[in-house]
Amino acid sequence: MKKIIQILTISFLIWNCTTDKKEIPKTTTKSSLKYATDVHSYAKPNEAVAKHLDLDIKVDFKNKIISGSATYKIEKNVNAKYIHFDAKALVIKNVTVNDKKTSFNLVKGDEIHGDNLTIALPKDSKKVTIFYETTHKTEALQFLNPQQTADKKQAFLLTQGQAILTRTWIPIQDSPQLRLTYNAKVSVPTNLMAVMSAENPKEKSENGMYNFTMKQAISPYLIALAVGDFEYRKLSERTGVYAEHSLIDKSAKEFEDVEKMVLAAEKLYGAYNWEQYDIIVLPPSFPFGGMENPRLTFATPTIIAGDKSLTTLIAHELAHSWSGNLVTNATWDDFWLNEGFTVYFERRIMEAVYGKKYGDMLAVIGRQDLDEGLEGLKDNPNDTKLKLDLNGRTPDDGMTDIAYEKGFLFLKTLEAKVGREKMDVFLKSYFKKHAFSTITTEKFIAYLDENLLIPNKIDFNTNEWIYKPGIPKNQVKITSDKFEIVMQVIEKWKNGKMMAKDICNQDWAIQQKIHFIRNIPASLTAKDLESLDAHCKYTHTTNSYISMVWFEQAIKHSYHGQNVDKKIEEFLITVGRRWYVTTVYRALKNNNRLEDALRIYKKARPNYHSVTVGSVDEMLGFEE
Ligand code: BES
Ligand code: ZN
Repeated sequence: MKKIIQILTISFLIWNCTTDKKEIPKTTTKSSLKYATDVHSYAKPNEAVAKHLDLDIKVDFKNKIISGSATYKIEKNVNAKYIHFDAKALVIKNVTVNDKKTSFNLVKGDEIHGDNLTIALPKDSKKVTIFYETTHKTEALQFLNPQQTADKKQAFLLTQGQAILTRTWIPIQDSPQLRLTYNAKVSVPTNLMAVMSAENPKEKSENGMYNFTMKQAISPYLIALAVGDFEYRKLSERTGVYAEHSLIDKSAKEFEDVEKMVLAAEKLYGAYNWEQYDIIVLPPSFPFGGMENPRLTFATPTIIAGDKSLTTLIAHELAHSWSGNLVTNATWDDFWLNEGFTVYFERRIMEAVYGKKYGDMLAVIGRQDLDEGLEGLKDNPNDTKLKLDLNGRTPDDGMTDIAYEKGFLFLKTLEAKVGREKMDVFLKSYFKKHAFSTITTEKFIAYLDENLLIPNKIDFNTNEWIYKPGIPKNQVKITSDKFEIVMQVIEKWKNGKMMAKDICNQDWAIQQKIHFIRNIPASLTAKDLESLDAHCKYTHTTNSYISMVWFEQAIKHSYHGQNVDKKIEEFLITVGRRWYVTTVYRALKNNNRLEDALRIYKKARPNYHSVTVGSVDEMLGFEE
């Protein structure tokens, strides 16, 4: 910390001595500008914008930092005097413009946004190099010790850029609308391998040096790096998986159908544009289920269930290769354009590969998630709009079920109104027309009007869906006959007409089991759960999704049999997936077990990524 302050002071001094102190020119009228206003970035792209990044870094596992340089090819307006980058928790050592050392100013910002790295630009500026180092306050990076990996032999590093964390490991113009290409030279210890969201090696290099190229322009939040002792297994000509040695066979088996998913996706909405589609299975502290880093999905190992039952998540991340990576939300207020479209697309892929009933089940589970999300936001109706206003807030506040499931429901309702055929023609053209560019909600609405609604003379309440809180009345009803069977079983069980052992004998899909557990009536007692558990063995399941929903119910029903409390603790300590752990901690907190939650959290916290720590700290009111 001291070091940062020192550097800040020095840079301020240099700045004040060497640059003219004229006001940074204000941008002119909004409408004539190429880029939208992004309240989460200090960049002023309408003045000067970076188009290509050459990253040259060394990963230092001993000190848990990354150091090196970021060189940008920039484009500037003739009048632009400065270029602004986002930097958070970084030490900026030096800056050169066209290879000449220059002054810079690291203007301290706030907790959410980080700092504004302002660099003076002479007239013919084309290239800016920033020499920097990360600090222990970095939020994107997680350095793991061998104990936290599957093989338990080597250290591991992973990054998470979305939404605005890339600036904590690379000084960058960190707005999703600012797409750029990149090359990277990454030096790691010789016993480890490095992969990025780029063209990747299939084997370890001898000297620990790796060169990467990402020739398609992507958003900064999609720049990603993983370093560890893993290997590659080809799944098809263009798909494959990276995993630690002890997980590679299981992973390859689990993801056997990935090529089928890519083919189904292409058939729906056009060619896969990124050549290669690989997945890396990360250690369990990875804070998300999956992250759609281009060419290389980052995935939690908790989806390796042994029976492909949790691979919907892969369909989701794959779908982002169109919705998100190809056509990208311009700002985080438009996040629903990334996630709502992806959920819709994910379910279409699953339907194409595994049948309509499968897609229907996913939709019903999503509908229940949406209801829970709405309930959680009942005091913040503005957060239930699709288009958000996150000014002054962290983008994380907008990353709720609304973007995912209200977004999905909007598209599903639109589909019901226009018919699937027209819907698909529209979506295919939407992806083609906006490929490798970014889109605001307003631009989407205009495109929808012009290409689907007006030509077909269709009246649709788009604005109500997008700009109003809650769910409009014309929402389609989501049903699944497979779930009706589940609800009948619950009714019978509740009324003593069905025994626990007969419930477990049903040949149910994972979604049915999840639906069953989530809908266990509040009126049933710990004793009822006990007899269920004795037969179904939910407490000891190896399916992480079942664990999560079962633990939630066990807590709600004060059930303590089968050593469930020990299992809950184990789960919270090994798994760092935010959605899973927040669900279980929330259940503890809401059922008078805050003390238990805090006791476990104290042990688990060092294993979690900063993203998960941030959410759980807030939920449990935890202070170090
Ligand atoms: N892009 C998201 C993850 C994300 C969202 C990271 C917002 C940071 C900020 C990813 O595609 C995602 O949605 N993951 C879900 C899985 C999915 C099946 C709903 C997850 O991790 O649970
Ligand atoms: Zn997603």
